[in-house]
Amino acid sequence: MGFFSELGGRVVGGPSILAADFAHLADDVYKAEAGGAAFIHFDAMDNHYVPNLSVGPVVAASLVPETNLPVDAHLMVDNPDNLIPMFLDAGVASISVHPEAVTHLHRTLGVIRAGGAEAGVALNPTTPPESIEWALPQLDYILILSVNPGFGGQSFIPEMIQKIERLKEMTDLPIQVDGGINAETAPLATRAGATILVAGSAVYKGEPAVEMRKIIEAGQEGATGTR
Ligand code: DX5
Ligand code: ZN
Repeated sequence: MGFFSELGGRVVGGPSILAADFAHLADDVYKAEAGGAAFIHFDAMDNHYVPNLSVGPVVAASLVPETNLPVDAHLMVDNPDNLIPMFLDAGVASISVHPEAVTHLHRTLGVIRAGGAEAGVALNPTTPPESIEWALPQLDYILILSVNPGFGGQSFIPEMIQKIERLKEMTDLPIQVDGGINAETAPLATRAGATILVAGSAVYKGEPAVEMRKIIEAGQEGATGTR
């Protein structure tokens, strides 16, 4: 059990800190919190699995005590097994890994859960939902990458809507959507069945509390059919 597992179909949103000002990270987190963020999405990149470098467990350990919200770690790294114990020690609430970056996915997901965090997989745009069929019993959420991982500020890939719909036919697990989410794309994703919205540049391009709230409300309206 945990935050994502207990959503019960509720639509929530959280900021991707990749788009935040890292010199004032906690302040930028509070701003999104003021806009109704329910979790903080923490993007770790290693310049191997993706062509960019961001932050790791040291920064997560500093951030976790600064916020009351669950910190959700998205590991875009090769061999995440080496880092997972450190992220667990840092106190993150959930960890998603890319199946392509892991040799023994079943084991890795088991380690995440045994460490007290929720376990997720992150599916790249062309990774088929069917590839995780046998991992479903070990999962607490599924992350659909709606851009190629590595950078913020890219455009939402429209085919990912059908992918969310396909996943909904396979499972009741909560679906997180990450990449190119803004007040226009959020309702498309939630109408298709996603309930966990991650947004980076759309939150931090303006006043974060205002932008975060707009995205969450748009997503909630998409889910209820009012947008
Ligand atoms: C993509 C990351 C995302 C990214 C989203 O590599 O996993 O979390 O920061 O950024 P936006 O919302 O700007 O697409
Ligand atoms: Zn992410």
